[in-house]
Amino acid sequence: MTAINAVTDFAVEGDVGVVTIDSPPVNALSAEVRDGLAAGVAAAVADPAVTAIVLICAGRTFIAGADISEFGKPPRGMPLAEVQEVIEASPKPVVAAIHGTALGGGLEVALVAHYRVAVGSAKFGLPEVKLGLLPGAGGTQRLPRLVGAKMALDMVTTGKHIGAPAALAAGLIDAIVADLRAGAIAFARDLVATAKPLRKVRDLPVTGVEPGMFDAYRAANARAFRGFDAPEANIKCIEAAATLPFDEGMAVERRLFMGLMTGLQSKAQRYVFFAERLANKIDGLDPNAPLLPVASVGIIGAGTMGGGIAMNFLNAGVPVTIIEMKAEALDRGVATIRRNYENTAAKGRMTAEDVAARMALLTPSLDLDSLSAADLIIEAVFENMGIKQDVFGKLDRIAKPGAILASNTSYLDVDEIATATSRSESVLGLHFFSPANVMRLLEVVRGAKTAPQVLATAMATAKKIGKVAVVAGVCDGFIGNRMLSRRQEQAMALIVEGALPADVDRVLFDFGFPMGPFQMSDLAGLDIGWSAETSKGATIRDRLCEAGLRGQKNGHGFYDYDAQRNRTPSPVAEKIILDYAAEKGVNRRPIDDAEILERCLYPMVNEGAKILAEGVAQRASDIDIVWLNGYGWPVYRGGPMFWADSVGLATVADRLTHYGIEPAPLLTKLAAEGKGFTGAV
Ligand code: 3HC
Ligand code: NAI
Repeated sequence: MTAINAVTDFAVEGDVGVVTIDSPPVNALSAEVRDGLAAGVAAAVADPAVTAIVLICAGRTFIAGADISEFGKPPRGMPLAEVQEVIEASPKPVVAAIHGTALGGGLEVALVAHYRVAVGSAKFGLPEVKLGLLPGAGGTQRLPRLVGAKMALDMVTTGKHIGAPAALAAGLIDAIVADLRAGAIAFARDLVATAKPLRKVRDLPVTGVEPGMFDAYRAANARAFRGFDAPEANIKCIEAAATLPFDEGMAVERRLFMGLMTGLQSKAQRYVFFAERLANKIDGLDPNAPLLPVASVGIIGAGTMGGGIAMNFLNAGVPVTIIEMKAEALDRGVATIRRNYENTAAKGRMTAEDVAARMALLTPSLDLDSLSAADLIIEAVFENMGIKQDVFGKLDRIAKPGAILASNTSYLDVDEIATATSRSESVLGLHFFSPANVMRLLEVVRGAKTAPQVLATAMATAKKIGKVAVVAGVCDGFIGNRMLSRRQEQAMALIVEGALPADVDRVLFDFGFPMGPFQMSDLAGLDIGWSAETSKGATIRDRLCEAGLRGQKNGHGFYDYDAQRNRTPSPVAEKIILDYAAEKGVNRRPIDDAEILERCLYPMVNEGAKILAEGVAQRASDIDIVWLNGYGWPVYRGGPMFWADSVGLATVADRLTHYGIEPAPLLTKLAAEGKGFTGAV
């Protein structure tokens, strides 16, 4: 074996040259990997003993893509296109041997090999679209030449991975082997023995092109692609592959790739990729410290949240005991979980056996004592300090020593809840978002006394159940809801001053949110936390509820809803708003879209600055992760803090002052220094 460079080895196995890349963690195409690949293949070509070449990776995966951390930096090493040229032009057949995930530039390297073999567990994808990009190393031109235009369209615009059997069926790979190295070498030898041609993907025709297919695809996916630049650029590339000679298609791909790479959307999406991974890291904590076991979970409350939270653990194969006070509530909660699973099964996304297996892991109980053996207990009862403290007091007596005691509270003080126990070090908040089995965000609320090991275990558990977890400190509403409150205040003020709910919703929808604040209120129910007995008609919300408007649940809220849930602005709600404004002596005025946007979003950024200064969030990017995963902030705008940086903090501070809101000290300071929150813009 010869070392080609620090990350590449070359070995000759009989008559087959094996080039091995070993660059942990994911063999990304760094300058060293690119140089090593080219030099390794060149060495194999030059070696007279070698008749065929295998490209293989050590470690957990084949090349997982370009090295994203190199993007935007001065170029080093051999350009990828030149490396590909060396491979494709090799006079000896090159076989890519794939395990793990061949993604992005990694798959594009495999596509210039003459043949591809993989183990059965390998996955393939061009996920560049998720980074606001397109596969810029010939992926859009070569992929449709192997799998056809339709499948290529799907793969590049969604970034989804496909498994080895599907890849084999589609022609993306040529064989599935059991032992990768031995299988690939045998495959390569066979190519030579049977005198197979050097098959260059670039020379194949694009199959499956149908008239009108690209426009039909655009129309069918308009909703999913709304606001994003990259999906359209990807479609244009596949269209180019289908209609132009290979080299001209490559030129289109290059031009569109550069356009995306230098744009703000891709910068935002690449920032989000790293921000999401950073969020899981806790400052000052050893990432390798041992964790507590979480082999069984108890959940108290089988309502909206308790049921959804339970499903996360059942899906991950963790047994759950769920507690209610009355049999009726317990039965209803369990029935809802079952129905959710059965609905998923009816859509073909789960089998009846899967449903049965998950339900078998669930133990319903009316007795809190059944939680005595649970490793993690999550309370999801009513949002009331007295009730929560009562539950935690009982848990303190019941739970085993070392068990983690968590509250799903939305706003309440986790430290105050912890005082009901004699073990504050075991208590923390686990704030799930509704629907808890769907939403990816989890705010992990660190109490003043929460033990580091408890916190670290919560973060690892979140990952295990597929959540994106962010550490938050104790404060009213933590990170997400605290910022949301600022937006809600402004949205309500705007409709009193002159805007209408539909104006505010439209502006935020056009910004990229899936819905605006008034649609969201209608969806959640206007009467959450409202009661007819105590209502004083003091707010617009009180008056809407008093008039019988409850939101989507009864078809009337800020909007009226028909049977298909289509909405039209409610004249009743509008009259209530106008009467309210008149009564308060407000002289309503026209409010333009720019003011709506600035007043809804800048105060959130301002609150984010306070959250950061107080240490409630560890870092600005964590705040962005909360808003991206919990509240539908458009990913191509990077999150509120990244977005504020892109607007310029001096502008944000000036406009806040203009609207009579005092900019937070941190915002003022960074603006004066010409800096941003994230350092990423
Ligand atoms: N570049 C640089 N670093 C990368 C990377 C990449 N392409 N992919 C992963 N990493 C890093 C992560 O940041 C993480 O670092 P950390 O340990 O310091 O936090 C580490 O590798 C492990 O990553 P994950 O935690 O994500 O590990 P998983 O095992 O959960 O997932 C994966 C592995 C499926 C490979 C996943 O990391 C992934 O999807 N990576 C991105 C793949 C991608 O988008 N490739 C396309 C890049 S763009 C491109 O190729 C352009 C080309 O067309 C020209
Ligand atoms: P819910 O009213 O749907 O469910 C609460 C359940 O707890 C009820 O079924 C009730 O019977 C049960 N319960 C009450 N006291 C109990 C006790 N002592 N022992 C056992 N069961 C008891 O309420 P929801 O919406 O599920 O909220 C629960 C918690 O989650 C609250 O703290 C809420 O603030 C929080 N939360 C709610 C979100 C939402 O969107 N609904 C989002 C995030 C957090």
